[in-house]
Amino acid sequence: MSYDLSIETSVTVRVPAKVNVQLSVGPARPDGYHELVNVFHAVSLFDEVTAAPADRVEIHVEGDPSVALDSVPRDDGNLAAMAAYAFAEHIGVEPAVRLRIRKAIPVAGGMAGGSADAAAALVACNALWEAGVATETLLELGATIGSDVPFALLGGTAVGTGRGELLTPALVRGRFHWAFAYADGGLSTAAVYAKCDRMRKAAGTEVGRPAPRPELMSALAAGDARALGRELHNDLEAAAVALRPSLSGVLEAGRAAGALGAMVSGSGPTCAFLAESEAHAAELVTALTASEVCTSAVQAYGPAPGATVISSDP
Ligand code: C5P
Repeated sequence: MSYDLSIETSVTVRVPAKVNVQLSVGPARPDGYHELVNVFHAVSLFDEVTAAPADRVEIHVEGDPSVALDSVPRDDGNLAAMAAYAFAEHIGVEPAVRLRIRKAIPVAGGMAGGSADAAAALVACNALWEAGVATETLLELGATIGSDVPFALLGGTAVGTGRGELLTPALVRGRFHWAFAYADGGLSTAAVYAKCDRMRKAAGTEVGRPAPRPELMSALAAGDARALGRELHNDLEAAAVALRPSLSGVLEAGRAAGALGAMVSGSGPTCAFLAESEAHAAELVTALTASEVCTSAVQAYGPAPGATVISSDP
């Protein structure tokens, strides 16, 4: 019997970006991380990761040129590579996999694109190696790679506590529509947290343990976009704007165009604008693009599903 070796086994996983509708940052912990209340909302901007057998871990990156592809590490520093090593070690196999990452999520943009790729790599390796590892274990492995990785596995909308890795799914009615404005160049998450600490210290601000905002949780459960727009909250926004002052003009342009709410996404520099409807999100994208305050703008809806196998060959 002969086999057609040109048919390669591969698994492709689609994984969403996130926006934080509430990001409340508590005091720094002894391990350097901050205690958070992080209300994650997965949105319909997706990266795809295809895993196929190889001699070792290999990373290939392609995709939308507007998302700064050149700055994605092609070596073991890529979070998807770290996920493949962690997964292979967990199940006791050689980390022999090629990961082809097709990016649409902005790189270092505050939308957890790197964490999304790590989550996708965990799911893809699990399927490729037919390992049958349970979601609970994937969530634990994901948390060792980055605070946002567990949420990318879960998707939907969820309240993250601890450093953001302990998740409780939240009730959401219907869909919310968003416009996102991309910026040139990323911001380092660690640098934005550090700037937030320095600004609080300089102002003498003492912060306690954060809590979910009841009005925000009600707005999500009711599918009330106007109420959600009023409640959007990001403690990292002031630090991101201090490091990248041009972001205040981006936020202002979205507000002037009628956004129900405007915020920096996570640690930035992507800015997120909540719309009344899908058509309104399209109008916001047009207005943001025309105002030339950002490199590009896209629309998306949330909640979106977490990392999911979309094809498996043969
Ligand atoms: O967990 P992750 O590697 O994604 O975090 C990146 C950086 O963001 C951390 O090194 C830390 O500086 C900062 N961070 C934090 N508190 C958190 C999450 C992240 O200070 N809860």
